[in-house]
Amino acid sequence: MVSTETQRHGPRVLTPQQVPEAAEVLRAGGLLAFPTETVYGLGADATDGRAVARIFAAKGRPAFNPLIVHVRDAAAAEAFAHFGATARDLAALFWPGPLTLVLPLRAGHGLSPLVTAGLDTVAVRVPAAPLARDLLRATGRPVAAPSANPSGRVSATRAAHVLEGLGDRVDAVLDGGACAVGLESTILRSGPPALLREGGLAAEEIEAALGHPLPRDVTPGKVQAPGQLSSHYAPARPVRLDVTEPSPDAAWLGFGPVKGDLSLSPDGDVVEAAANLFDHLHRIDALAASQGRDRIDVAPIPEAGLGRAINDRLRRAAAPRM
Ligand code: TXA
Ligand code: MG
Repeated sequence: MVSTETQRHGPRVLTPQQVPEAAEVLRAGGLLAFPTETVYGLGADATDGRAVARIFAAKGRPAFNPLIVHVRDAAAAEAFAHFGATARDLAALFWPGPLTLVLPLRAGHGLSPLVTAGLDTVAVRVPAAPLARDLLRATGRPVAAPSANPSGRVSATRAAHVLEGLGDRVDAVLDGGACAVGLESTILRSGPPALLREGGLAAEEIEAALGHPLPRDVTPGKVQAPGQLSSHYAPARPVRLDVTEPSPDAAWLGFGPVKGDLSLSPDGDVVEAAANLFDHLHRIDALAASQGRDRIDVAPIPEAGLGRAINDRLRRAAAPRM
């Protein structure tokens, strides 16, 4: 693999003009970190078991945790997943976008069983970021990708976060700048739909489309919804939430009226806060390190719309470490 002078010891960093090279990394069984509108994904060809196995090795992820398969459009997903009428409607309404549907696997699906961790369902989504769509078109394969961070750590919303967390464990990073949404996708189980993970598409929007409230199956720590480990998204330092009076030994992450040392959104806008969340968790951790502070305090965030997904991630960041 060609390296440039400046990155002799790291993975290749590819520009948006190098989508064909990025697609080639995937087709050759390599690991490619790529930007979606939610967070950066650590991608591999979902039909290539060896490539998928490398994802788990790179993340240090427990192997029982299944991966999301990314495709260019719903038609590509029909090749390996069964869509019921409701799933088809939701896909038509919200794809491309930050919604993942968990659907029954089709017989002869061709995906590596590692992708689904042996389950008879598959999580699938059509990302909206133009670069992700170009990549999926150029690759012509379903791409399995978890968030591109070491297991248990803060998700990556910039190429620099990927390089910092995974470094040489990826073959290349497609650099598309900062992710627009900044929170992982909302995960919905089909059948009678139920919410498995709050995320970048507010549950209220799905409920408005369905015309009824969604049952929630998002109890932290319950491994029946795999990957919902309660200690997750963790910065290096312990995190305390809903802080309006910061402790002197903490760096303070603000929101709205609470200014803090760094603010998720000075205007109190949850959409802006979502886009900033993971980047600011990386930054506040670095700030605390540089100032010799041992902890991170976080201002209160309203529990509505994307605020619920933000609070879910923050509670995991604050949970006792496992
Ligand atoms: O926005 C996102 O969803 C990002 C980007 C890269 O697409 N991906 C992401 O992947 O967040 P990951 O692996 O960090 O989270 C995927 C979640 C995990 O909690 C996993 O357990 C769950 O999806 N999941 C995957 N397949 C599943 C299945 N068949 N049934 C239930 N949950 C599943
Ligand atoms: Mg993740």
